[in-house]
Amino acid sequence: MIPSFALLFVSGLVQFVAAKDVYLQWDVTWVNAAPDSYERPVIGINNEWPCPQVDVDVGDRLIVDVTNSLGNQSTAIHWHGIHQYTSGTMDGASDVSQCPIPPGSTIRYNFTLDQAGTYWYHSHNMGQYPDGLRGPLIVHDPSPPFEWDDEFTVTLTDWYHQEMPELLDQYESTDNAQSNAGDEPVPDVALINDSTQSQFKVQPGKTYLVRFICVGNWPGHAFLFDDHEMTVVEIDGVWVEPYPVGERNIRIAPGQRMSVLIKTKDDASKNYAFWDTIDINMMFVYENKPIPEHYNPNATAWLVYDESLPLPPPPVINEFDFIDDLSFVPYDRTPLLEPVDHQIILNTGHTTINGISRFTINGRTYMPQQVPTLYTALTIGPKYYNNPAVYGDVNPIILKHNDVVEIVINNYHNNLHPWHLHGHQFQVLQRTNVDGGFFNGYYANVSSTPVIRDTIMVQNNGHAVIRFRADNPGVWLLHCHIEWHVEAGFVVTIIEAPDQFQNMYRSKDHIRICDAYGSPSSGNAAGKQGTNLQGANNYIYPGDSGASYPPPTFP
Ligand SMILES: *[C@@H]1O[C@H](CO)[C@@H](O)[C@H](O)[C@H]1NC(C)=O
Ligand SMILES: *[C@@H]1O[C@H](CO)[C@@H](O)[C@H](O)[C@H]1NC(C)=O
Ligand SMILES: *[C@@H]1O[C@H](CO)[C@@H](O)[C@H](O)[C@H]1NC(C)=O
Ligand SMILES: *[C@@H]1O[C@H](CO)[C@@H](O)[C@H](O)[C@H]1NC(C)=O
Ligand SMILES: *[C@@H]1O[C@H](CO)[C@@H](O)[C@H](O)[C@H]1NC(C)=O
Repeated sequence: MIPSFALLFVSGLVQFVAAKDVYLQWDVTWVNAAPDSYERPVIGINNEWPCPQVDVDVGDRLIVDVTNSLGNQSTAIHWHGIHQYTSGTMDGASDVSQCPIPPGSTIRYNFTLDQAGTYWYHSHNMGQYPDGLRGPLIVHDPSPPFEWDDEFTVTLTDWYHQEMPELLDQYESTDNAQSNAGDEPVPDVALINDSTQSQFKVQPGKTYLVRFICVGNWPGHAFLFDDHEMTVVEIDGVWVEPYPVGERNIRIAPGQRMSVLIKTKDDASKNYAFWDTIDINMMFVYENKPIPEHYNPNATAWLVYDESLPLPPPPVINEFDFIDDLSFVPYDRTPLLEPVDHQIILNTGHTTINGISRFTINGRTYMPQQVPTLYTALTIGPKYYNNPAVYGDVNPIILKHNDVVEIVINNYHNNLHPWHLHGHQFQVLQRTNVDGGFFNGYYANVSSTPVIRDTIMVQNNGHAVIRFRADNPGVWLLHCHIEWHVEAGFVVTIIEAPDQFQNMYRSKDHIRICDAYGSPSSGNAAGKQGTNLQGANNYIYPGDSGASYPPPTFP
């Protein structure tokens, strides 16, 4: 018999050996694809689309060399949900933690994955990802709290036949604000796994972990498997107490993930439909627009037991009874963070600036600056890094190290918004229904172990209250994950403990990207010293050319 200390030593060693470097070489390229039989150019990786799923294990280091071979657009890759503890320069948000990568340039992302769960990567550059540059990032847990035989990933998205630069230009035009209430372009179809024909092959009598990722641009999704019970076990990278969905319904919004366990039938005598729909309330009802005749928000895929058997139509759903995601309980029962050291109230809304539709936070719209905000924090010096003025019009909020921070998001807009925080998962203390009213200091029935996630849907004329500890020094965006709204300025910049990250690693290739793009990489928002912000971006011009390169020049 082996003494127990030897066993411990062996398993410790195995884990150490298992942590590995995963190298990927990504050439970002245009590809022609027809996910719904309409062919158009999409943005893929290594001449393929859909973009590949990345599978790694907890503890691995991911090293991705990204070359921009698009020719006519810049790019940047964000690793959605990954905290980037001590590696904030690898967060991949352009104008925040790096400059946009111009065509012909290469940048290396290099960071460790210390969180298990379902994540994704996507372009975080000027409204680009809905043209296709996004994919799953799965960090496997060596000892998950649940058992399953096999697993698969299902991405859900809205899809457009036109490319983003064209749609954005129209969306951010004075004409759209005047004649269309500033409304968003309407998606052409919904896609399941980037197709309208997806078939998920399964075997009878097995338990599957199905990882859902909403990689969409705008509406939320509701979905179900015909006659297969789903039990929710993970939300945004957090294992939760098993939650059988039963006759009720679940939905996810852009940026959110949800894993469920399903048990397949004991025999393979039939195939079953999977039904998904994009939210017509968000796209039409709340915007006071009629639903166009023949508009189809639904998509179908199949659980295929036997390829020789027919693919049945989806079930008809007459009514939804959504589970409130505040009902989920983190598996490790992390207690409520308290007391609060720093409370921030964000009043979020919609307005028109210079005749253009814009979103505002406490009355201000976000405008990307010439120097990435993290680079300003790293180069402006201790006299200024706590002064919000040097960061320009990026809605800066400065946090103190290790404070328990509470953010209240009041939604004064007549539609739903999925708010996503980089660098953290947060506890959600409360979230109202539609028309649930604004925060008045009253906390209703807060759980002692609140749900923890990184993206929360905030409902119209309602609010949400979130908490996290400021224990990850860096610069992190908090934004509505609807890509139209990011471009329309629905973004806050969290500058977390600048005194604690002054020696954060900045690789030379990242600084060279700024030179190649023609942007300054040091100084305040305008690339100058101190509070001289002459030349900073502080004016909203009509139109938006998305990630088009070369970028437009303004007077
Ligand atoms: C990745 O970054 C670490 C520092 O965080 C560095 O030590 C290592 O050499 C880098 N690896 C590669 C392959 O660039
Ligand atoms: C679904 O998408 C994932 C991630 O892109 C991919 O790995 C998988 O092969 C796809 N499955 C099917 C059946 O299309
Ligand atoms: C979409 O699915 C719903 C629910 O089953 C159904 O009522 C509706 O008719 C479907 N719409 C179309 C255009 O097929
Ligand atoms: C408070 O929340 C718990 C857990 O979510 C729930 O079971 C209970 O019904 C709620 N009570 C009230 C009064 O809303
Ligand atoms: C860039 O190239 C793609 C692929 O050829 C093309 O479809 C697109 O219209 C071009 N322009 C912009 C601004 O992206």
